[in-house]
Amino acid sequence: MNSMYQDLEKVLFSKEQIAERIKEIAKTIDNDYQDKRPIMVAILKGSVMFYADLLREMQIHAEMDFMAISSYGNSTKSSGEVKMVKDLDRSIEGRDIIIVEDIVDTGYTLKYLKSTLKTRNPASIKVCTLLNKPARRIVDIEPDYCCFNVGDEFVVGYGLDYAQLYRNLPLIGVLKKEVYSK
Ligand code: IMP
Repeated sequence: MNSMYQDLEKVLFSKEQIAERIKEIAKTIDNDYQDKRPIMVAILKGSVMFYADLLREMQIHAEMDFMAISSYGNSTKSSGEVKMVKDLDRSIEGRDIIIVEDIVDTGYTLKYLKSTLKTRNPASIKVCTLLNKPARRIVDIEPDYCCFNVGDEFVVGYGLDYAQLYRNLPLIGVLKKEVYSK
C-alpha cells in the first residue's frame, strides 16, 4: 500500500492532542462572543478540517462563510503574492468576523485577508489559526487565537498539504526531506 504515513519523518500533534486543544479554543471563543453571532470565515482549503471540528465544539450561534485564496503552488516557499479565488457569499458590514486559518507563516496571507475584509466595514475582525510559525514571520501580524506554535519546518496533515496531498492525515506531522526534494 502506498500509505501517506511512510512519508512522515515525525508526528508533531496527534489526533487526540488536536481535539483537546480545539475544545479549549472553542471554549475561549464561546466566552469572548457570548452575546454575539460571529461569521466564521474558513480559508479554503487548508482550514477545512480545523474549521469543521472547531465549529462543532462551539456552543454559541455562529454563521459559516468561505473564502479561497491562491497558495504556494507545489513549492514549500511563500512568494508573498496572494490572490482571491473565491469571495464570501454575503455582506459582512456591521458583523463580527473570525477568520479561520490553517497556519500563519510569513503573514502575507493574513495581512491581505484582514485588509480586504476591513474595507467592508465589519464590526470586528479576529483571527483563529490552527498553527503559528512565528520564526518565519515577515509581516508584523499576530493571530488572536492559536492552537499550536511550530518551528521553522514544513508541516502537513489535518488540512495542510504538500502539493495538494496529505490534507487527509488526521494528525499534524513533518514530511521526510526526500519527499519534497525529489
Ligand atoms: P503566509 O502567507 O506565508 O503566512 O502563508 C500562509 C499559507 O501558506 C497557509 O495558509 C498555508 O496554506 C501555507 N503554508 C505555510 N506554511 C506551511 C506549512 O508548513 N505546511 C503547509 N502549508 C503551509
